[in-house]
Amino acid sequence: MAALLSCPRRHPSVHLLILTLFIASLLPILDGLELGGDGLYREILRDETVLRLKELGKLSSPNTALLYVNQISDGEGYLERTFLSPASIRASHVIISWMKDAGLTTWIDQMGNIHGRFEPTNSTKEALLIGSHMDTVIDAGMYDGSLGIICAISALKVLKLTGKLQRLTRPVEVIAFSDEEGVRFQTTFLGSAAVAGTLPESILRVSDKSGTTVQDVLKLNSFEATAAALGQAKYSPESVGSYVEVHMEQGPVLEALRYPLGVVKGIAGQTRLKVIINGSQGHAGTVPMKLRRDPMVAAAELVLTLETLCKQPNKFLTYDEECGCFTEESLAGLVCTVGELLTWPSASNVIPGQVNFTVDIRAMDDKVRETIVTSFSRLVLQRCDDRLVDCTVEKKHAASATPCDAELTSQLERAARSTLSSMTTMTSSPAAAAVPVLMSGAGHDAMAMARLTKVGMLFVRCRRGVSHSPEESVLDDDVWAAGLALVNFVDQNAVAPATTPETATAEVAAES
Ligand code: GLV
Ligand code: MN
Ligand code: MN
Repeated sequence: MAALLSCPRRHPSVHLLILTLFIASLLPILDGLELGGDGLYREILRDETVLRLKELGKLSSPNTALLYVNQISDGEGYLERTFLSPASIRASHVIISWMKDAGLTTWIDQMGNIHGRFEPTNSTKEALLIGSHMDTVIDAGMYDGSLGIICAISALKVLKLTGKLQRLTRPVEVIAFSDEEGVRFQTTFLGSAAVAGTLPESILRVSDKSGTTVQDVLKLNSFEATAAALGQAKYSPESVGSYVEVHMEQGPVLEALRYPLGVVKGIAGQTRLKVIINGSQGHAGTVPMKLRRDPMVAAAELVLTLETLCKQPNKFLTYDEECGCFTEESLAGLVCTVGELLTWPSASNVIPGQVNFTVDIRAMDDKVRETIVTSFSRLVLQRCDDRLVDCTVEKKHAASATPCDAELTSQLERAARSTLSSMTTMTSSPAAAAVPVLMSGAGHDAMAMARLTKVGMLFVRCRRGVSHSPEESVLDDDVWAAGLALVNFVDQNAVAPATTPETATAEVAAES
């Protein structure tokens, strides 16, 4: 090669042609670089991704609840990482180091979201954003949120190692959102709503149980914590082409169908309420039953009322001509939950003075959800009147049902299908004729991002549909399938084809 290049009698364009042909002949080798020896990048997309999931799963706040609960676990494997907690700051540092390892430029925005981006030179196209959340619920599993972040980082690392990152036709960015669960402030989507630019200024004044406001916690972590600073986290719709999220299914459908991956058609809407009941605090041994104003029994009655309302809505509500609600179809996905109930002063020999509890109502049909919310709020006031206690109902959060973009969904479906057929020989995955299409009862950052751009989601099978529990489990091979589907998706939608020897010849011939 060196001798050929140094031959003084050849025309310079011939040398250029030979060099170009040599480099071009290497590209298919780089393109098919086999990490893991089987062409499916197993070492990164499965082994390293699973190791990282376990590492992130260990970054947790301590289990303070153990002090109060009957020591049902010794705290081993406990995971709690709420918005901007010290554990979440530790997680941010680790995620940044993984993003750098994947060849991405990183930064933290004013709402604590972590960004890792590859910006191709001279690209004027809109970015492809891929993300999920790094916060968790209390006593969480290690896959909810983290799976989507780490799969995305691993997919970009594969693209870096195969030389494809350099051939991206548009900016590609991974975002680890700081808050989706809304556990700390009951608001949900603090991170993704900041990027979508839909956070109201009033969010800064919302406080957690200890009275710390969003503004306090931002300041404590050296963010500016002003409305103007939050505005800096917002992306302009023109700069973003689409948002894609990989997430564990959190339901049993894929397992029942024996499929590792599915695509999402839409996400249920949700409303969160807080019900506060004030009664008369008193002595458990001296206040006669008929003289009590006990907020605890009022709360118990209301929890049961909510259950009946959502199990048998037609018992309370009739079919509404105008909204067309309460047909069997429109009731799909209607679920109601009381997940947190607090009593004051919480002592066995004291009639409580106050009880408050959370309500979470979800449905695919927004009108159904809104009607249930209104009906429940009315029933709360009626029951509280009957029991002579004072009640208020506060709306903490509401998000409409969100459809996923049809084109993105079919691109994800194609990527999943080609992944599963290439993996059939390697794993127990079936050859995928048709990738299942699911509705999501769980909320996702994609709901907030849909206010900014079109969204698509890929679901990953989990064991027995369990989530929001330390029992969450996803097969290592399914983690691998998800990562590979993401590689295929980006490859098919944002990577320029490799220059072949033929195109290189044509390019040089055209130049000389
Ligand atoms: C988030 O996981 C939610 O659906 O509440
Ligand atoms: Mn989640
Ligand atoms: Mn969750």
